[in-house]
Amino acid sequence: MTFDHPTSRPTSACSNAANAAWSQIVGEVAARFGTPVYIYRPALIEKRIGEITGAFPAPFAISFAVKSNPNPWLLSWLRGRIGAVDVSSGGEVALALRCGWPADKITFTGPAKTEAEIEAAVKTNVGGLVVESLDEAHEVDRIAGACGHHQRILIRIAPAEAEPGFAVRIAGRPSQFGIDEAELSAAIATINGCANLMLDGFHAYTGAQCQEDEAIAAHFRTLWRLFREAVHLAEHPISELIFGGGMGIPYHDGDVALDIPRLQPVMREIVDEIAAEPGLEAPKLKLEIGRYLVGESGLYVTRVVRTKVSMGSDIVLCDGGLNHNLGACGHLGGIAHRHYRMLPVRAHEPAVEKTYRIVGPLCTTIDTLAHRVTMGELHAGDLIGVHCSGAYGPSASPLNFISYEPPKEIAVLEEDGGHKFEDITWMKSPFAAT
Ligand SMILES: Cc1ncc(COP(=O)(O)O)c(C=O)c1O
Repeated sequence: MTFDHPTSRPTSACSNAANAAWSQIVGEVAARFGTPVYIYRPALIEKRIGEITGAFPAPFAISFAVKSNPNPWLLSWLRGRIGAVDVSSGGEVALALRCGWPADKITFTGPAKTEAEIEAAVKTNVGGLVVESLDEAHEVDRIAGACGHHQRILIRIAPAEAEPGFAVRIAGRPSQFGIDEAELSAAIATINGCANLMLDGFHAYTGAQCQEDEAIAAHFRTLWRLFREAVHLAEHPISELIFGGGMGIPYHDGDVALDIPRLQPVMREIVDEIAAEPGLEAPKLKLEIGRYLVGESGLYVTRVVRTKVSMGSDIVLCDGGLNHNLGACGHLGGIAHRHYRMLPVRAHEPAVEKTYRIVGPLCTTIDTLAHRVTMGELHAGDLIGVHCSGAYGPSASPLNFISYEPPKEIAVLEEDGGHKFEDITWMKSPFAAT
């Protein structure tokens, strides 16, 4: 199939109108709840769900990767809006259940599940255990047998080749994730012989942060090719395929957002081929994503404590940084640190522009939100919003490092042309006086 050229590419979410909406909210939230604070706008997630649903025809359903943002309010809010969640630890299984997710809507992925985690998941009847090695499959078989269960499993496949266009690549190299494509045939034969396992699906998540429409389309084609071979090898009907999306978001100035309506024809073709495939009757198809669903809905806001000049360089010191937002400081993958898009919110119009290094409060040089960013002059008390912070935020950061308080988390509920705030702060301070 040919891939149409776009009539107009969406630029990053950094339009003036988008920033104006955020600026107003930032000022209100900071005044009411203080800083540092994460602000989430669920309306943006709702919009994103609509866009994804338009591009990925039924029976595709969204499965949210809980690791990207396990805030309980968000997990509960997502229930009823998307089809499923994927968890990666016993803690996340418990959290998803506590947030009202039915066990059969939960899949459990993760390369080093412990015996206790597997046993708890089996006893809970999670919808699918995604096994990442033959050794793990044998352990699930033994535990399921001891519990008197016939456990439904999916195999995570580790493709032999990496795909272009992904900032983070997992496939095509030795890794802890999944069963090597080359070993798949033997692994399926072994698993088919395990008395307490029911092989009922395949899973692949091979890379992250892809921002090219063509590369994403090619990625889904590759996954489907891989799954089709696996289904043949299974030699019995398979009911579920989980496609790790890998879809990226515009973290940096100048990034161009994915134009996912362009994927619709490709996904339609894939869905039609799946429907015609023997061995795949009425299959469940999942799009497993995290950052593409929730990343752009979140803004991390830190306040300028003071500015200083060191050896001629302008430095801005803020009340939060790496301790709350490790990714924005460049320490969650990626080679060179490029600062996330920033939204300064000031009390006064700036008279001049300056080039700044923007740092957090920690006693380490790695606590740097931007090494070099040019913007209107900043003063103590001004606010800096860090875009694309809705995924891999507080839960993926070293919150306790140097004993600062965890960030507040506030949801902005937009209704009747206005909005109200809900404090959904989750992380508790271990330093608070008892
Ligand atoms: C198995 C699996 N699925 C889904 C995701 C979500 O990835 P992203 O947030 O890039 O969509 C991850 C992220 O690490 C993952 O490991």
